Amino acid sequence: MNRENRSSRNQPLVPRGFKPKLGQNSVGRDPFFQCQPNPQSPEGISLAPYVRTLPLVVDAMLDLAQVGSEDTLYDLGCGDGRILIRAAQRFGTQGMGVDIDPERILEAQQRAREAQVQDRVTFLQQDLLTLDLTPATVVSCYLLPRSHLLIRDKLRSQLRPGARLVTHSFDMGDWLPTATTTVSDVINTYTIYLWRI
Ligand SMILES: C[S@@+](CC[C@H](N)C(=O)[O-])C[C@H]1O[C@@H](n2cnc3c(N)ncnc32)[C@H](O)[C@@H]1O
Repeated sequence: MNRENRSSRNQPLVPRGFKPKLGQNSVGRDPFFQCQPNPQSPEGISLAPYVRTLPLVVDAMLDLAQVGSEDTLYDLGCGDGRILIRAAQRFGTQGMGVDIDPERILEAQQRAREAQVQDRVTFLQQDLLTLDLTPATVVSCYLLPRSHLLIRDKLRSQLRPGARLVTHSFDMGDWLPTATTTVSDVINTYTIYLWRI
């Protein structure tokens, strides 16, 4: 491998709209922990960089939330749509995903077509802070810890009784979860959190 390739591979990816805060965390070079929401983003407030949830974590989230065919699952900051697409494939779940990044929405729509679940999932470029959550029976999100705190009141006021919220890696501060579980790969252990409204 030449010097240029090695150098670029070792650089942490700093997603568009984020400013790295180097040296202010203890999680090494993980870009997720080195970023600050950027309130100047023209699309809205950026509440997290783009980091994909691993497939084994996606499945564990769906299992902990007991997602089924009757559910309407919302993913807040849907990225490439993997959580909703997987739920549609496994259970036939209807899904709604929003992301402020138009590239992610195009990617999610393409992946949905490839998985032949485009009739079950909708992906919109939208600031999740402006999204009406009242139709959701299950909400998933994977945002920065401070962003989880920012949307906590919205979740509690808009979700109907019996609805579930599922996150991983980050909790909701002093809003204690109904249940937690962990799932591991060869490198990491991921904690998954569930709240039942
Ligand atoms: C950590 S990624 C999670 C992606 C996907 N949910 C997953 O678990 O694989 C967070 C996503 O939230 C999106 N995002 C950040 N701020 C947002 C906002 N205000 N409204 C909608 N999406 C946002 C980012 O563009 C990014 O794709």
